[in-house]
Amino acid sequence: MLGIIGGSGLYEFEELKVVEEVSVKTPFGGASSPIIVGELEGKRVAFLSRHGKGHLYPPHRVPYRANLWALREVGVDRVLAVSAVGGINKLFRAGDFVIIDNFLDFTKGRESTYYEGVFSVDVEGNDEVARLLREKKVVHIDVTEPYCPQMRTLLMDILEERRLKYHPAGTYACTEGPRFETAAEIGMLEKLGADVVGMTGYPEVVLARELTMCYASLCVVANPAAGISAHRLTSDEVMELMSQRERDVKEVLREVIRRLPAEKTCGCDRVLEGAEV
Ligand code: HPA
Repeated sequence: MLGIIGGSGLYEFEELKVVEEVSVKTPFGGASSPIIVGELEGKRVAFLSRHGKGHLYPPHRVPYRANLWALREVGVDRVLAVSAVGGINKLFRAGDFVIIDNFLDFTKGRESTYYEGVFSVDVEGNDEVARLLREKKVVHIDVTEPYCPQMRTLLMDILEERRLKYHPAGTYACTEGPRFETAAEIGMLEKLGADVVGMTGYPEVVLARELTMCYASLCVVANPAAGISAHRLTSDEVMELMSQRERDVKEVLREVIRRLPAEKTCGCDRVLEGAEV
């Protein structure tokens, strides 16, 4: 089943015909919001609000491990995340979509793995993830290509057909937040090859991958990043842009749900092969 994680400005997906609302207790604590399991286009889909309804969780305190675990518990094996980002690449304008293909991690101290070796939690279940945790294994997953190529291709096809302006690749720098960046930090990130900046893309992507889920991110440039913009940054600016884009985002989501084939052509679900020490 596809799971959608809604970021800033996307707290609900009203188009879903709700089947059930699930509050999952996980070994990693509670998720940011109940998971809505619903139907759209004849498919079953799960929706989770990353910051919680009412935007309760700041980026550095989002319970990322609980969120991904909870999605898995309800049967999600592919995640599509929607995120607002600041534009660093001068070709990326406010309102553009970006189908990111790599990331740079500048977060500090977030719990960014399930595999804690001797410190791993005990979980129930007979699958490979549960075995690795129970046997307290050390696991190094490959993240050469962190985002699911099959989902990225579908997103690009949909954006192309709808004539929505998008960038087919981009490197996402994840900062700790919750403050915005300094102009100097953005200058550094630009030199390092970042195209966009956000505060929530990491560790979400790697946690999904550790659970063998496919993960792709539909990023929306909400503002030019600090120092590129001529004015100071505000949350108001980000929210305003995201609300302008809401209709397009939801149309793209609907189309992804309709067209994502059941058969996987990526290798995301084989990431644990050879990963344990
Ligand atoms: N920086 C970090 N996160 C963001 C930004 C930004 O400029 N815009 C939206 N999310």
